[in-house]
Amino acid sequence: MSAAVIDGKAFAAGLRQRVGVAAAAFAAQAGRKAGLAVVLVGEDPASAVYVRAKGKATLEAGMASFEHRLPAATSEAELLALIAQLNADPAVDGILVQLPLPAGIDEQAVIAAIAPDKDVDGFHIDNAGRLAVGQEGFVPCTPLGCLMLLQDALGDLSGKEAVVIGRSNIVGKPMAQLLLNANATVTIAHSRTADLPAVVRRADIVVAAVGRPEMIRGDWLKPGAVVIDVGINRLAPTDDAPKGRLVGDVAYDEAAGVAAAITPVPGGVGPMTIAVLLRNTLVAAYRHAGLQMEGDAL
Ligand code: GUN
Repeated sequence: MSAAVIDGKAFAAGLRQRVGVAAAAFAAQAGRKAGLAVVLVGEDPASAVYVRAKGKATLEAGMASFEHRLPAATSEAELLALIAQLNADPAVDGILVQLPLPAGIDEQAVIAAIAPDKDVDGFHIDNAGRLAVGQEGFVPCTPLGCLMLLQDALGDLSGKEAVVIGRSNIVGKPMAQLLLNANATVTIAHSRTADLPAVVRRADIVVAAVGRPEMIRGDWLKPGAVVIDVGINRLAPTDDAPKGRLVGDVAYDEAAGVAAAITPVPGGVGPMTIAVLLRNTLVAAYRHAGLQMEGDAL
């Protein structure tokens, strides 16, 4: 048996297209475009790639993009001053400060300074708390994208056994909350979990977000499980792959022989993150303008 491939790239393209249609409707109704401000501090090359991709996707969706690139030596006070300015700017609906921040800047203090109704990353404590108690707020983009893929693949998640591997604030914890809100039975596993293979073997749904290349093996899976692989790890260069192959946290070929469906790396979860960011920004814009989005396709 070979698993169905969950095509996150295609799903993300569809979502971005729907966001684009809704963004045009917003601009016509509100008399302005929805706007996303992205802040990058320092020169981390991977972060620079992400920020460029976010800005490009924002423009492609018909929204306004405000990019702020600050030198690595920027002080926390300077960054907080920029956030205060963006909080007060009526053209800015969403604010994203790319993480990680340079050493010396307190990430939690920066996240806390973002107005919760512009926190399209869903990292502010207000939004984390809203998710935990089931109130409307902003949900982190990567786990929300994973939930969309799961609901597309499985329909109702009610009563499913879900195992989330990884307990980060960005992915693992909000993923578990989303699955719980969708009535799954949820286990959060992590580096101290005893007998991880036995825990994973219970799961109808496995979400892997640990950042360790090919850690989850095919023989850990229950036959017919649905596997969402959030990991993006670059292996050491080889003759065949001089830049180093990109792999997930799941040993794909082994898992594809056991699972019912699985996301590939690349082309699975990765493209969903930006698509959901655009969606969250548009939702923020509608809320700020006091307008109602037509339909509920997003
Ligand atoms: N760094 C890695 N992923 C993310 C993300 O989703 N948002 C932000 N702001 N930074 C990140």
